[in-house]
Amino acid sequence: MNILMVASEAEPFAKTGGLADVLGALPKALRALGHRVAVVMPRYRSSNERIGPTSRVLETLAARKDASVDLLDGDVPFYFVNCPVLYDRDGGPYGNGSGDFPDNHIRFSTLCRAAIAISRWIFRPDIIHCHDWQTGLLPAYLRTSLALDPTFIGVKTLYTIHNLGYQGLFPAETLAETGLDRAVFHPGGVEFWGQVNFMKSGLVYSDALSTVSERYSQEIQTAEQGFGLDGVLRDRAAALHGILNGADYGEWNPETDPLIAANYSDRDLSGKFACKSDLIAEFGLPTDAESRPLLGVVSRFVSQKGFDILGEIAPALAALNVSLVALGTGEKQYEELFRDLAVAHPGHIAVQIAYDHKLAHKIEAGADMFLMPSHYEPCGLNQMYSLRYGTVPVVRATGGLDDTIGDRTGFKFEEYSGPALLDAVHVALGAFPDKAAWTGMMLAGMREDFSWHAAAGRYSALYGKLTRVPAG
Ligand code: ADP
Ligand code: GLC
Repeated sequence: MNILMVASEAEPFAKTGGLADVLGALPKALRALGHRVAVVMPRYRSSNERIGPTSRVLETLAARKDASVDLLDGDVPFYFVNCPVLYDRDGGPYGNGSGDFPDNHIRFSTLCRAAIAISRWIFRPDIIHCHDWQTGLLPAYLRTSLALDPTFIGVKTLYTIHNLGYQGLFPAETLAETGLDRAVFHPGGVEFWGQVNFMKSGLVYSDALSTVSERYSQEIQTAEQGFGLDGVLRDRAAALHGILNGADYGEWNPETDPLIAANYSDRDLSGKFACKSDLIAEFGLPTDAESRPLLGVVSRFVSQKGFDILGEIAPALAALNVSLVALGTGEKQYEELFRDLAVAHPGHIAVQIAYDHKLAHKIEAGADMFLMPSHYEPCGLNQMYSLRYGTVPVVRATGGLDDTIGDRTGFKFEEYSGPALLDAVHVALGAFPDKAAWTGMMLAGMREDFSWHAAAGRYSALYGKLTRVPAG
C-alpha cells in the first residue's frame, strides 16, 4: 500500500516532543512490513542543516506560487514543503520567544494543501495519514472542495491524535485564508465556540481516527479529558482506535547508545553505575549522590506533565536521602520552579533548562528512577525508554503510562495530587535497598518489548480495513 504521512515535525529534522519520535520511526517500521511510505513536512529554517542536498520536485503548488517541494530520497522519502515566507524563520516549528506565530493557520493549512498537491502529482497514496492539529484541515479539503475530484476517490484518511490539549484554534475570520468553503463553519464541521478548530476538522472529516494508547482513546471520550471535544469523539467512537506507540530501540538502547558514558545490557548491568556517576558530574551534584537513589526527569515543562504536584512535594523529596535531576524547557513558571528548587536544595536537586538530546540519553541511562507524574499522557515515550535503560518509572496511572507500566516494572499512583505522588515515591524508595528485588524489576523492564513492529502491524491492519472495498 502507498501511505503518505503528513506532520509538522519528524526526527531528525524538527522536534519538540514525541510526535517527532513517532514520525521518525513509524514510517520505517511500515516500510519493513512492505508498504511504500513517504512523509510530508515543512522545511523549517532550523532543519536546513539536517536536510542537506535535495532534488526539487514541484516548483509551484496549487494556491501558492511561492512554494515548492524538496525531495530527500531514501527508503522513506521526505517531501519538505519549501515556502520561505512561511517556514524560513528563527524559532521553533510553532513560534519564537514572543509566542506562537500569528499566521500558524496559514502555515499549516499550506502544509495540508501541499500534501494534497504531492498526492496528486508526485506520490499517489492509498492512505493519507495525518497527525495532530497541524494536519487537521487536510481531510476537510478532501471531503468538501475535492469531494468529486476523481484523483481522490478511494483515497482514505486516518487522523492520529497525539495530544488533544493542542487543538489549533483560530478566529472565525481566518477561515477565508485557509481556502476552505465557509459552509464548513458550523457545529458539525470545523466551528468550535465561534472559532475555527483544526483538530475538530480532523476528527469530523477523516475516515478513521486513532490515538496513541488504548487508555487515552477511552479517556478522551470523557468530559474530564476531552478538552471540549469529547462529544465529537463519542459520536465517532466506532471509528476511533487506540494504537500504542513504539520505542525506537535503534536509538534508545543502552547496549549500543553512543551518547552515554558506558554501555550495558540485561546480561551485564555494570556500565549503568558509570552512567550514574557521569550524570551526577554533568549536573554538578556532589559525589556522595552516587550512594543515594537518583531520580530523573526529561520533559517539556508544561502543565500536562504534572509539575505543579512535583513542585508541591519537592521540599519533602529534598529532605529524603535522594537526588533529582531535571532536563526541560517550556513555560516560564515551571522553568522558574525548577530553578528555584535547585537554588533552595543544592546538592539534592539540579536542573538544566535546555533542549539537549545527549543529556536526555544520559538521564535515561544514569538515573535509578524516572518520574512522570503527568496530569494526562496520551502515550509517553520516555517511560518506555526508561524501561529499556533499567531506570524504573514512577508514573501516574493515566493514558499510555497506565498501559505500559505494570507492577513488575514500575510504580504507579492514581490520584492527581502531591500526597499521592509522594506516596508512590516513598514506596519506590522503600523498595530500592533490596538490591535483588530491585534488579529483578530493572530486568523485567529491560526485557519488555515495545518495539515499533507491533504498532506498525496494527496500523497496517487498520489501513487494510479502510481501503478494502465492501463486497457487493
Ligand atoms: P511529549 O511528546 O508530550 O513531549 P513524549 O514522552 O511522548 O512526550 O516524548 C518526549 C520526547 O521529547 C522524548 O523523546 C524526550 O526525550 C524528548 N524531550 C523532551 N524534552 C526534552 C529536552 N529538554 N531535551 C531533550 N529531549 C527532550
Ligand atoms: C504527544 C503526547 C505524548 C505522546 C506523543 C507521541 O506529544 O503528549 O504522550 O507520546 O505525542 O505520540
